Amino acid sequence: MLRLIFTILPLAALACTTATAQTRTAPNQQLASKELNERVDALLKKMTLDEKVGQLAQYSAGWATGPNATELRYDELAAKGQLGSMLNVVGAATTNHYQHIAMEKTRLHIPILFGLDVIHGHRTIFPAPLAVAASWDAAAAETVAHYGAVEARADGIAWVFSPMVDIARDPRWGRIIESNGEDAYLSSAMARAWVKGYQQGDLGKPDSAAVSVKHFAAYGAAIAGRDYNAVDMSENQLRQVYLEPYRAAVEAGAATVMSSFNSLNGVPATANPFLLTQILRKEWGFDGFVVSDWGAVAELKNHSIGDGPTVARKALLAGVDMDMEGNLYGTVIAQQVREGKIPESTVDEAVRRVLRVKFALGLFEHPFTTPGPEYAATPERRAAARRVAEETFVLLKNDAMEGAGTLLPLSAKTKKVALIGPMADNQREMLGAWAVTGDPKYVTTLKSALAARLGDRLLYARGCELLSGEDGALLQREHFNEPPSAEKPLGIPDDAKTIAEAVETAKQADVVVMALGESSSWMEGEASSRATLGFTGAQEQLLEAVVATGKPVVLVVLATRPLELKWAAAHVPAILEAWSPGIEAGPAVSNVLFGDVNPSGKLPASFPRAVGQEPLYYAQLPTGRPAKGDLSRMPQVGDERFMSRYMDEDNAALFPFGWGLSYTRFSYGQPTISRTDIPVKEVMATRAPLTTVGVDVKNTGSVTGTEVVQLYLRNTAASVEQPVRELKGFARITLTPGEQKHVEFPLGFDELNFYSAENKRTVEPTTYKIWVGGSSLAAAETALKVVE
Ligand code: NOJ
Repeated sequence: MLRLIFTILPLAALACTTATAQTRTAPNQQLASKELNERVDALLKKMTLDEKVGQLAQYSAGWATGPNATELRYDELAAKGQLGSMLNVVGAATTNHYQHIAMEKTRLHIPILFGLDVIHGHRTIFPAPLAVAASWDAAAAETVAHYGAVEARADGIAWVFSPMVDIARDPRWGRIIESNGEDAYLSSAMARAWVKGYQQGDLGKPDSAAVSVKHFAAYGAAIAGRDYNAVDMSENQLRQVYLEPYRAAVEAGAATVMSSFNSLNGVPATANPFLLTQILRKEWGFDGFVVSDWGAVAELKNHSIGDGPTVARKALLAGVDMDMEGNLYGTVIAQQVREGKIPESTVDEAVRRVLRVKFALGLFEHPFTTPGPEYAATPERRAAARRVAEETFVLLKNDAMEGAGTLLPLSAKTKKVALIGPMADNQREMLGAWAVTGDPKYVTTLKSALAARLGDRLLYARGCELLSGEDGALLQREHFNEPPSAEKPLGIPDDAKTIAEAVETAKQADVVVMALGESSSWMEGEASSRATLGFTGAQEQLLEAVVATGKPVVLVVLATRPLELKWAAAHVPAILEAWSPGIEAGPAVSNVLFGDVNPSGKLPASFPRAVGQEPLYYAQLPTGRPAKGDLSRMPQVGDERFMSRYMDEDNAALFPFGWGLSYTRFSYGQPTISRTDIPVKEVMATRAPLTTVGVDVKNTGSVTGTEVVQLYLRNTAASVEQPVRELKGFARITLTPGEQKHVEFPLGFDELNFYSAENKRTVEPTTYKIWVGGSSLAAAETALKVVE
């Protein structure tokens, strides 16, 4: 048997605040470089106060994701050097228009920095970020980011408002789609990859774009999953879980950070010196600039911390360098400097940070964009979008059928396939929530892809709409921008009729593929919180009616949010989670359904049995009364009634974090550990790995497959209570039938540390339980002792 050794390099970056921390190196060498900073200072010396403040103002001259500040004359502002940055201005012609004004009409010829929400691709739309996280493949995130940067630069955009690395543990929060899910370790790994893909380690490359890591901080922990809501959590939890991915992104060289809308422990994040100065600047050594979220500086008034001038001053002093579409910095800062309320040195420092990024991007040398040919979804770009999508799909369930193998993959010889559901032939819905510049016309739907594969062996019925007459509030929301009128009424669908038609279609087929989900374009993403997590409209009824025909049903879920799939999990033999797959949705899903591609995705967020379990995540803190089935259950059991549990539902996820099946099977050997006892002093003294957990993984099935091997730890005796399990390593490996590989995970300070009661990263004498396996339920176990 061939034994291949895979060593997984520790993912954490170098800088940290251990007891033994070495001298800090700047996370982004370009921004810290002496030569660049000399250019910045030389320019700064020439600037008037008004020109300086101009660099701190950003306006949107395009579409809005919030109320617009005011009707502004951008040409005029640009000519006065008071337009440091613009967003939502896209395309060489438009960006060049403003840039010519800035470069030719202003005294100091400082270029404008154009930013945009380039989130999962720019013109070529890839799967949504949560889906990309489901690939557990950093290379996939890099690919998406890189294409995003290339296409954004062609449109004059050198700054992308991505990656969003907010930990999201509550799918009621619609922005979970933009996140990497619930886990700090996975999110940090993906955060590094997104930054690398966009910035390529060199902001000066013509196809690199500066990132904006957002939303700083802890935006994903909005109380009750309601967007923009307050966040309240311990500093310990904040640092150990929520801040980790931002730290990873900053340490990977992120050029800018975006502040968040929420308050944190009573202080709005956009005027929060603890976050923006203490942590970001002093502890992490961040040299780039901080932009507020849309209107967030002005919204500080609603947080009741003062009037316009006061909140602008508070935000600037706290560390927000640029005001996005708030129209406050541009109007109230200079006066306060003149009155001595704000030191000019504070303005200087903010301007320095902005100019650093402009210089590093090479905007002074190359301010304009050469107009290129019109965008085309070339075969190369489509292939990249398809490959990434195929890696993101998670096979949640795949039952064996009576007298046969598993339902999936479908046989190429299947005589008739019925494709049913409102997502089956919907180009717009495949793009996902943050496809600002994506054009649905480039999307190949599942119906088109299956028709190409099956010809007249494909039957189709839409079945129902995404919403029914019951969904009053949702319908209103859908028509938000164009309220229903006498000429254009709401258009309540006749579900009973279309479901009956779908049932007839299903009866004529050998297999039914159902494409259900939720609307990515207006039910997911920003301002899209939900209080329920089921399929919308009559989709559940449709599913139940089709299953009742007795035909084998494959459910393809097209929603980038963990939905409540309890009925489906109990009654549908095969379920594939396909998220919002992007322009190659159809071919990618079809390739996986027919086994040309073996699914390999794993869930980056737990799927609940009921919405009442939320926020639901595997890395829970222990309780003195763990219920039956909980990961931390000890042999002791009391009266089950008085355990930490629900009366009417299990505690466990329906499909847990890390979960995902394959068309083959993998077996895990007994994990081994190279050193079982390590003195605590040794762990604290180095960032180098000190021991290695090894495990043999074998493909025991009959097709080649890719497994994501996962390593979880539990610190069983820390001075601050630690989660029942935490992911601390993973590796994607591909195995041919019968093949076995040896996977190794190094462990050292980076994996073993936790935040002490004093909020310092530390390691203490303890025993770590270690599990290795294919999900957070991993059972193959070993242990490590850290001794006095
Ligand atoms: C508001 C959103 O919260 C943020 O993610 C986005 O980047 C900005 N608007 C700009 O559109």
